[in-house]
Amino acid sequence: MASNSRTLSAAADAGAPAPDNQWSSRLTFILAAVGSAVGLGNVWKFPYIVGENGGGAFVLVYLLCIALIGIPVLTAEILAGRRGGASPIRSFGIMAERDGHSRNWQAIGWLGGLCAFLILSFYSVVAGWALAYLGYAVGGDLSAAGGADDVGQAMGTLFETLLASPAALVGGHTIVMAITILIVASGVRGGLEKAIRWMVPGIFAILAGLVLYAATASGEFGRAAHFMFAPDFSALNWDAVLVALGHAFFTLSIGMTAMMAYGAHLQKDAALGSSAVAIAGLDTLVALMAGLAIFPIVFAAGLEPAAGPGLVFVTLPIAFADIPGGTIVATLFFLFLAVAALSSTISVLEPVVEYLEERTPLTRRGAALASGGAIWLLGIGCALSFNVAGDIRLWDHNLFDLLDFLTSAILLPLGGLLIALYVGYVLPERAVRAELAGIGPRGYAVLRGLLRYVAPLGIATVFVYGLM
Ligand code: PHE
Repeated sequence: MASNSRTLSAAADAGAPAPDNQWSSRLTFILAAVGSAVGLGNVWKFPYIVGENGGGAFVLVYLLCIALIGIPVLTAEILAGRRGGASPIRSFGIMAERDGHSRNWQAIGWLGGLCAFLILSFYSVVAGWALAYLGYAVGGDLSAAGGADDVGQAMGTLFETLLASPAALVGGHTIVMAITILIVASGVRGGLEKAIRWMVPGIFAILAGLVLYAATASGEFGRAAHFMFAPDFSALNWDAVLVALGHAFFTLSIGMTAMMAYGAHLQKDAALGSSAVAIAGLDTLVALMAGLAIFPIVFAAGLEPAAGPGLVFVTLPIAFADIPGGTIVATLFFLFLAVAALSSTISVLEPVVEYLEERTPLTRRGAALASGGAIWLLGIGCALSFNVAGDIRLWDHNLFDLLDFLTSAILLPLGGLLIALYVGYVLPERAVRAELAGIGPRGYAVLRGLLRYVAPLGIATVFVYGLM
């Protein structure tokens, strides 16, 4: 199969109209990348890790990680994707060889491809929870449980019952993977772009409504803002810094070739630096807004912010049961969560599909089905690790926790480190300059310094301390 991506960059160079697998504009690319970045990470994970790690001081470290490491690595990744032109898994090898370096740099691509595979298998299971809760909200189960004598217990039981049911978990995971495969199989223009165009504006609209609700109806907005923004450094340790860094990678979808794949479909003359800043800025905005929507409601119901992974699925529903219009708010919230998750899953499958499309005789549809099917199988293992396979422990974790830890704490930062080193030291400087034309000499110097020194040293330090 000829490389679609390579034909597309050749066509773009020749000034031909954008082919079907190129984003129709830079704005669409930004929307797609924001769709990838904004997901369960922002809404499910960020609020609970803020809650567990003491609030404001953690948020500050996280923002530093985004600004000093996340944005430079995101820029580098998009840049490498566009420069390489092939499927992201192969791009590094091709680029390195073209510039007279070892083809072994392709290892970054393999690492990323592996990471995509692993992330999607557990991510899709959690996205399935969001779908299940959307079903509960619409079906009135949340308000029924809210009528119980002990609402806290009823909501806890609802979540436990979901986790204990292999059929429910595998079912949700299957629906998520099916929708993901369907969208990706339809191509960049016909699938991803069409979906993104309504998903991302929808996500922002619902979230804005929820924040407005929390700000006006809960009476606890000030307390939530204080919790999120007043730093208490005594709650901070290296583990928390490692969590913040790992999450910066996870939430920006960097270190695993998803952003490379999206970057490869960007027009040659579209500005990169400002796109990366916009993507990271909007992603951060959503994470902070999610906190500002969730914590006031949690506080108003007299509940704990440090509830861990159950924050969104137990604590929040308890609070929803307590507020006027709770069913509608709950429905909107879980709809928002499910759509945000789906606009991310498609970006995780994309690089794997592009690789198969290039390297095997499979069509795009076949490639989407084959890779999505394999991920679906591994995901079943993750789903079952909450119930029947819960006793199977690997290094003291069940499969789900192991994949979560392995990817966000190790593989993503490692991928980010290698990408920073590649673009900072291996890619010829004239190529980097050419890709970044438009950010001006000062912006370029700052970015280069961050990529060559700050990001690698920062990632290495956090690694060493965090894993000790
Ligand atoms: N960034 C997504 C989120 O925050 C998750 C993701 C990770 C998507 C890696 C793509 C690649 O939920």
